[in-house]
Amino acid sequence: MTVSYQAIYDRYAAAGQEHVLKFYDSLSSDEQSSLLQQLDSIDPEHVNHIYKLSVSADADARAAGPGAASVEPPPPGSVNNPYDNPNKAAEWRQQGLDAIQQGKVGIILLAGGQGTRLGSSEPKGCYDIGLPSGKSLFQLQAERIAKLQKLAKGTLPWYIMTSGPTRKATEAFFEKKNYFGLDKQNVVFFNQGVLPALTNDGKIFLDTKASVAVAPDGNGGIYAALRSTSATGQGFSIISDMKKRGVQHLYAYCVDNCLARVGDPVFLGYCISQSAQCGTKVVKKLDPTESVGVVALKDKKWNVIEYSEISKELSEARDPNSNSNDLLFRAANIANHFYDISFLDRIGEESSSMAYHIARKKIAHVDLESGQTVKPEKPNGMKLELFIFDVLPYLDPSTSEHAILEVDRKAEFSPLKNAPGTGSDDPQTSRRDLLALQKKWLVDSGASMDDGTEVELSPLLSYAGEDLEAVKGRKIKQGSHNVESQEQLEQLLA
Ligand code: UD1
Repeated sequence: MTVSYQAIYDRYAAAGQEHVLKFYDSLSSDEQSSLLQQLDSIDPEHVNHIYKLSVSADADARAAGPGAASVEPPPPGSVNNPYDNPNKAAEWRQQGLDAIQQGKVGIILLAGGQGTRLGSSEPKGCYDIGLPSGKSLFQLQAERIAKLQKLAKGTLPWYIMTSGPTRKATEAFFEKKNYFGLDKQNVVFFNQGVLPALTNDGKIFLDTKASVAVAPDGNGGIYAALRSTSATGQGFSIISDMKKRGVQHLYAYCVDNCLARVGDPVFLGYCISQSAQCGTKVVKKLDPTESVGVVALKDKKWNVIEYSEISKELSEARDPNSNSNDLLFRAANIANHFYDISFLDRIGEESSSMAYHIARKKIAHVDLESGQTVKPEKPNGMKLELFIFDVLPYLDPSTSEHAILEVDRKAEFSPLKNAPGTGSDDPQTSRRDLLALQKKWLVDSGASMDDGTEVELSPLLSYAGEDLEAVKGRKIKQGSHNVESQEQLEQLLA
């Protein structure tokens, strides 16, 4: 479809953003049409609206000064721990498996981030953390889904949210790897939106003379993306696909955690059993400087206070009621969330009126006067992002609408954020933590092994430590092993 210059000009002029067409006459006809296409996909009035909302929310937060908003930790009893009550955990697990067996569960992967800190040009999920098998994060996740389908005797549709920068490479990787053995019909990709980078007074930056500078709109972009019929590129929305399949409960998770219990039946059962609208998995935060958000009540409403926005004072505060000098704000968000589909329906509409978080950045752009590219040395503008947990304030804290489950960090959280060799949250710590967990499963199942022996267990063999009865009372041969099946496991036993 051709887009008319005049129609675009009029829309942008009405929004005070017509400078994006400043160089139009000097472009080749291909460049002209690609610029018009890009501008047509952006709603400049909506950009202005979001800018105003976000700047005013930011100014309010600053004017109020530190400590002005009331911020409290989750009230006693609101955070449950499955390890405190194994019988209850077994019940939740069964409830989760039943829901999967009945076809009521879908999985959402958040994979639209650009992974700038890791420094890899590939999507993060393609990353090989150096395991004996050489498996990528995507493969580990796919195999966990496959195993869970077997355990539950059900089907789990996997909805994968990508963004402009990650879509093509992600889909190509899945194709190349033959969807890791999953049924392609049950793997659905969709794109989150993008937003233009803005000057401090809300003007859209040009990246080149023929394109606007855009970035993904944050993982909270999911709520609009689930409803958008253009996000899949196939003319249907993800929400409608979920409904068609009879999906009622969703398990959403972050791409970079090699220990992620994708579709965890315990968490599903826990949330379903209390008729929660939304759920958040947490681990205990131990170090005030750790880059994790913490679940809290902000002005009496559920929220996550992100690590980039919490004051030093709050992050270092200790709980006066704790015998072990715990942090006061210690419910660390691991970016695994549960949703009831009715909540996603409700929140899609609300999300258009939410304030975005402002990230002040150095934004390379074309100078409107000289036409030259400028690479600033100091932050000169902003990127706007919605966070996935920005919907928590819509849940009523006097009910069980928001379910919070605290799980064991060693079993469920080792994120890959930083470049190799950083020493924390890097490929080496991911590898170490996954192999240590699987060693624990083997030892708990009655195996012994020498120090230095490493065993990687395929998720197809064991999802969370089950199905390892064969190792009871046996010693594992020395070496570094990758085990894909019961037969291969048997061969390693002395
Ligand atoms: C995130 C959480 C933080 C939590 C931490 C745990 C958010 C906003 N913050 O922080 O509270 O403690 O993980 O590891 O969730 N993503 C998109 N689209 C985007 C941006 C990100 O899909 O536009 C995805 C990423 O691919 C990733 C996830 O969201 O799977 C988290 O993004 P990341 O930037 O790694 O979040 P953190 O800052 O580490």
